Amino acid sequence: MPKVYGVAIRKGGQGKSTTVSTLARLCALYGARTLVVDLAQPGTTTASLRDIWPESTHGELSSALLTLHEFPAGATPDDEIANAMLEQSALPVHLLSQPSWSGGELWVLPWDDLLGEAAAFLQSERVLAGLIHALAPAVDIALIDFPSEGGALMTTALAATDRVIMPMAPEAPALEGAAATLRLLARVRESGRQIELGGLLITRVEPRSKRLVEVVQAIKQAGEVEGESLERKLLPFAIRSHEYFEQAFRYGVPVWERTDNMRDWAGYVLMAEWLLRDAGLESLATSRRGPALLTPETRIIDTSAVLLNDTEVMLRDFERAHPAG
Ligand SMILES: Nc1ncnc2c1ncn2[C@@H]1O[C@H](COP(=O)(O)OP(=O)(O)O)[C@@H](O)[C@H]1O
Ligand SMILES: [Mg+2]
Repeated sequence: MPKVYGVAIRKGGQGKSTTVSTLARLCALYGARTLVVDLAQPGTTTASLRDIWPESTHGELSSALLTLHEFPAGATPDDEIANAMLEQSALPVHLLSQPSWSGGELWVLPWDDLLGEAAAFLQSERVLAGLIHALAPAVDIALIDFPSEGGALMTTALAATDRVIMPMAPEAPALEGAAATLRLLARVRESGRQIELGGLLITRVEPRSKRLVEVVQAIKQAGEVEGESLERKLLPFAIRSHEYFEQAFRYGVPVWERTDNMRDWAGYVLMAEWLLRDAGLESLATSRRGPALLTPETRIIDTSAVLLNDTEVMLRDFERAHPAG
């Protein structure tokens, strides 16, 4: 089974869609067969992948889900039913493979406007989980762009997710969103499903800003929330603020086509490698990083050094401080 990662936080504007679209491209570049499930209004992730979108037509995920709306509560459609449903809708969309991907692939279950309504009609919250399971032979890793708001679509997404990656911008309200997400995960665990926070990723970082220091302090002080600790899950790297990311969905091309400075995407490269390792795809994680992606001198934001006033370090020093694996 592919590991299914939900990129989620109960607060909008934290970088979920930017994270999913950038990680999806990187996972494919590293050779992983990657599935993206875009459940976040208004389809920012789907829009961000425009340059590699095929011309062929496809149906809507909402109508695919609706064909199973009477599927009984709690039950998971088996692979045969799920595959038939996907085939009928010509889903998932197979994005145009790039020569640099060397075996990597990108599949998308795209956003559409009726997804929220479709989820509300479902009797079983496990229909999407069944769809993803049916795609397992063709997929190594799956990324779900989560809705920010609670509701049926969120429930459906949670039922399909193994681990949550939580992106968070350095601002006070984001911490409330993070705590709310941990409480939500605890409720899901109470219902008997294994789901946990995989990592907390700080996004939109201005390395010298006071707000970054404040938010790292607050994370360290937050302690345990429902058996999970934000501090323990805080990833050592972070995502730099950059103008490209503000407009990613408008450009619809990868970040490395809009900027020459590796430090602007370095956080996502380290995140993609972390993800591949976490998903058990060790060999992919170590095989693809070349001087076109990062060099030993690339500047990395080190969240463990923020309070020591040493936020930016060179990759070679970062890797000495945080050996992978
Ligand atoms: N690293 C970044 N630097 C600058 N702006 C960013 C960055 N990441 C996201 N943004 C911007 O922040 C806003 C929210 O990001 P988005 O990925 O759409 O968040 P979400 O999906 O959680 O709502 C968008 O305007 C996006 O362009
Ligand atoms: Mg979004």
